[in-house]
Amino acid sequence: MLIVTDAFVKDQYASCVTENLKNVGFDVDLIEVPVGEESKSLEQLSRILDCLIGHKLDRSSTLIALGGGVVGDLGGFAASVYMRGISYVQIPTTLQAQVDASVGGKTAINHPKSKNLIGAFHQPKLVLIDVDTLKTLPRRDIQAGLIEVIKMGVIRDETLFGMVEDELESILDLHTPTLIEMIARACANKADIVSKDEKETGLRMVLNYGHTFGHALEALTHYKRYRHGEAVSIGMNCAAQLAVHLNMFFLTDFERQRTLLNRAKLPTTFPHDLSPEAMYDAMSLDKKSLGGKLRLILPVRIGEVVIRDDVTEKEIIHAITQCY
Ligand code: GLY
Repeated sequence: MLIVTDAFVKDQYASCVTENLKNVGFDVDLIEVPVGEESKSLEQLSRILDCLIGHKLDRSSTLIALGGGVVGDLGGFAASVYMRGISYVQIPTTLQAQVDASVGGKTAINHPKSKNLIGAFHQPKLVLIDVDTLKTLPRRDIQAGLIEVIKMGVIRDETLFGMVEDELESILDLHTPTLIEMIARACANKADIVSKDEKETGLRMVLNYGHTFGHALEALTHYKRYRHGEAVSIGMNCAAQLAVHLNMFFLTDFERQRTLLNRAKLPTTFPHDLSPEAMYDAMSLDKKSLGGKLRLILPVRIGEVVIRDDVTEKEIIHAITQCY
């Protein structure tokens, strides 16, 4: 068994996980990768593969990805290619990874040209979530992770959206029963979507609500200024603004979403140093644009979205202009 983790998580949880596994008879090795997105690289993948080979792990072995989204994506991808695929377990330690990245089997590393360009769908055998791990996270990371729950509420679960509205203070104070209820509900939604459309040929695309705007913003700011969840928050606000402009979404629902994002201290406006045209160009490069057409996930009410690929450049730029 090989645990893949990063330096930050290793100091906090690696000895506990390793000891528990050893106590019940497992042979456990550990590899640490540097903290941060740069670790989703061929170089770190190669280190993990060397380690798997060096420790003579075989087809019956299991890899454990212990950490946030980076470790999960990298470790999961290593598990998917080693000996054409070995079992792996996700132990996500950030809210973003617990409610989104660890569930659904997306694994990947980055290419200099684009994020997550080299990857595989490889389902974990188990996702083990301990909400106590959130207690050592900066509040900004809790807020950024919460966006994936709010997103799930908007795309298909108004009750979950209402739960975050009602319990926001308890959630941000990391009240354990509230976190467990919210995370379990978000994961059940995600698992339901993925079980119906694992390879993202249709339904799973709804999880990209806010992401086409968000990815463009992250790329234009070199992945340094915003947490992923913060860029998605701005993207969700802009997608909702666009839906209002297209007469698909009531202004009251747009305001309901924006109010919750603002209460969660998530950003909803674009930075002034990026022009709407630069945003649009970056969105067009997003790998989710098909045949030259941008595919957008737009809300029709809190709890339902539709997939649209017929929105014009002018309409998109207009919506971005409204979000400064
Ligand atoms: N994070 C989006 C998905 O798993 O499809």
